[in-house]
Amino acid sequence: MPTLIELLLIWTLLWDAILCVSFDVLATVDSERQNAIRSQRDLMMNVTVDQLPLVGVNLGKVVLNSGSANDTESLIGMHSLMKSGVQSFMLDLELRNDSWGVKDTNVDFGTFLTSFESFVNKTDDTLSANILTLHLNISNGDLPSNSSFGDDQGLISVDPSNPMLNLTYVLDQFVGRQRIYTPDDLRTDRQVGNTFDTSGKSGSGWPTLNSFLYFKRKRVLITEVSNRLNYTEVPYIFNNTILHYDVGNKTLETPDTIGQLLYVSTISWRYLEAEFTPAEIQQYIRMGYSPVIANYHNVGNLTEISQLLDHSIIWSWGDGEPIAAFTTATPKNSSSLVAYNCALLKYYSANSSAFWIVGNCYDRKQGLCRYAEQAFDWEVTEADDTYFAFDQHSECHCSDKYQFALPRTPLELTSLMMHLERSGTQDKEIWIDLNSIAVSDCWVTGGPYATCPYEKVVSRRNFVAMLTPVTVCCFVILLIVSYLNLLRVPIHSNRKKWRKVVNEFSKTELDGVPL
Ligand SMILES: *[C@@H]1O[C@H](CO)[C@@H](O)[C@H](O)[C@H]1NC(C)=O
Ligand SMILES: *[C@@H]1O[C@H](CO)[C@@H](O)[C@H](O)[C@H]1NC(C)=O
Ligand SMILES: *[C@@H]1O[C@H](CO)[C@@H](O)[C@H](O)[C@H]1NC(C)=O
Ligand SMILES: *[C@@H]1O[C@H](CO)[C@@H](O)[C@H](O)[C@H]1NC(C)=O
Ligand SMILES: *[C@@H]1O[C@H](CO)[C@@H](O)[C@H](O)[C@H]1NC(C)=O
Ligand SMILES: *[C@@H]1O[C@H](CO)[C@@H](O)[C@H](O)[C@H]1NC(C)=O
Ligand SMILES: *[C@@H]1O[C@H](CO)[C@@H](O)[C@H](O)[C@H]1NC(C)=O
Ligand SMILES: *[C@@H]1O[C@H](CO)[C@@H](O)[C@H](O)[C@H]1NC(C)=O
Ligand SMILES: *[C@@H]1O[C@H](CO)[C@@H](O)[C@H](O)[C@H]1NC(C)=O
Ligand SMILES: *[C@@H]1O[C@H](CO)[C@@H](O)[C@H](O)[C@H]1NC(C)=O
Ligand SMILES: *[C@@H]1O[C@H](CO)[C@@H](O)[C@H](O)[C@H]1NC(C)=O
Ligand SMILES: *[C@@H]1O[C@H](CO)[C@@H](O)[C@H](O)[C@H]1NC(C)=O
Repeated sequence: MPTLIELLLIWTLLWDAILCVSFDVLATVDSERQNAIRSQRDLMMNVTVDQLPLVGVNLGKVVLNSGSANDTESLIGMHSLMKSGVQSFMLDLELRNDSWGVKDTNVDFGTFLTSFESFVNKTDDTLSANILTLHLNISNGDLPSNSSFGDDQGLISVDPSNPMLNLTYVLDQFVGRQRIYTPDDLRTDRQVGNTFDTSGKSGSGWPTLNSFLYFKRKRVLITEVSNRLNYTEVPYIFNNTILHYDVGNKTLETPDTIGQLLYVSTISWRYLEAEFTPAEIQQYIRMGYSPVIANYHNVGNLTEISQLLDHSIIWSWGDGEPIAAFTTATPKNSSSLVAYNCALLKYYSANSSAFWIVGNCYDRKQGLCRYAEQAFDWEVTEADDTYFAFDQHSECHCSDKYQFALPRTPLELTSLMMHLERSGTQDKEIWIDLNSIAVSDCWVTGGPYATCPYEKVVSRRNFVAMLTPVTVCCFVILLIVSYLNLLRVPIHSNRKKWRKVVNEFSKTELDGVPL
């Protein structure tokens, strides 16, 4: 006979379960996407910032245009693009009588930057921070070409008595020096050997994403594509010589050999601005371009852009991956061990495509190895084994000098697909160096025993704010579920569930492109 206390407890648990489930249903679809984006960022930590695959938009073409009558709504539209993972922004800027303004709108640059900065502020933590690039295309606006402000082609010179025309001042006021990675920062980084080029040489090239975000604590890099500014006066802005910015048609060859891949990777900041179809945008990403979407949209049909974003932002994981470990049904009477916490590369030979899926770490598969630090030199092990056997510190079935690895950029993935195609590989699933064994949903590289870098962050972060009733209830349920799970999944005693915690505070960033 259950006591009253027990009945109460059961009632509470039941109620909690209902709350949890209803909460989860709303969040699951997008939380996988968010996890995929975060895991991509994390595995690219050692990639230099100029080699990252960034998805961009030409703001004038997609939202800040005369087709979008309400400027407030246009800026909200930009915000939702940022939330869904767009990281590069081409902005048409024009000089007005008393300020800089966004072309074809009544938005002035300060208002734009405030909106931009509010996203940066909201995502300024270890879990969500990512690099953003802003590219300015500057024109004279409606000022007569012979006005004292400048001329058609030459450098734009402004009235020095008006601070709102001083771009440095405007950026200081609305973004803040501390967020911007400036040409001076690059010079310093190069002097101290904190930058790398593709051959791995320090002192030239660019800093790694890790150093950019977490050591320099920078978020934004600003360039001007139009070459109209006097660079002795704008110390925060890079000139267009750092970029390879194609408009309309690509000018780089489609890489088809390792040599061509190596050549492409020596070029920094490769952008292609064009109107894309979903299939094309995916192709260009795999060629090593950062696409800048210029398909015409306005606030009314901005949601249509999600098709393009779905084919570009996540270049690694398959659709709906990484599925959460505990949602994977396990056979009730299964006597074998089950832990859906390891990543497999799924290769289809028919169309030579590959993406990642979550697999059971105890399954026996071949593994992926890379030669030393060579980006494009791959090998697939002959032996099948469980994921745990691919530990870098022990023998891991890789040949001499090869190490358990994963493709860290779309170009590396392309080179791997070339390797598999040329070696006549059949459809196949291969272990790659990516797992969430230590903490579910926290995907790390570095072998089966790598730890999740966020455990501390999660517990320290404004915990009070996260302690909403739902989270607490869910947490209780999760403890029970984890406990039951632990009984069945004998991986590690430090296995934790922090998914709910993450969901709760990144909930606001989960809604794709609403409107
Ligand atoms: C980055 O490089 C360091 C040192 O080589 C290594 O310990 C770390 O695991 C790497 N991180 C990633 C995400 O590749
Ligand atoms: C623009 O949109 C905002 C938010 O939807 C609304 O509050 C505002 O009144 C609109 N302004 C105009 C001029 O329509
Ligand atoms: C800009 O200045 C010119 C001449 O000084 C004036 O004719 C024009 O109306 C002004 N435009 C705006 C938007 O104030
Ligand atoms: C962003 O944060 C900084 C400091 O944390 C603050 O000064 C600034 O006003 C914030 N900007 C916006 C747009 O929220
Ligand atoms: C900059 O804007 C001009 C028109 O104002 C356009 O012709 C040019 O292609 C733009 N440049 C880039 C790189 O988008
Ligand atoms: C600019 O040029 C137009 C004709 O070319 C002339 O009428 C006008 O006075 C000039 N304006 C200034 C400020 O020189
Ligand atoms: C522009 O503003 C910056 C920062 O406020 C200031 O240091 C600089 O002297 C200004 N430049 C000019 C040309 O006035
Ligand atoms: C660029 O700005 C500097 C400093 O304000 C000035 O001395 C120089 O003449 C300007 N160059 C041009 C081409 O306008
Ligand atoms: C453009 O920037 C590069 C690197 O920051 C610098 O070396 C070069 O002198 C700059 N060129 C011009 C014309 O300002
Ligand atoms: C791109 O290339 C196609 C065919 O090669 C050509 O018809 C088109 O005009 C080019 N577009 C631009 C913007 O150069
Ligand atoms: C969005 O609407 C505009 C104007 O109605 C149209 O020109 C454009 O093609 C539409 N874009 C998409 C992607 O549907
Ligand atoms: C138990 O597992 C065996 C083989 O693993 C399977 O054939 C059988 O149908 C399972 N029984 C149930 C009740 O799921």
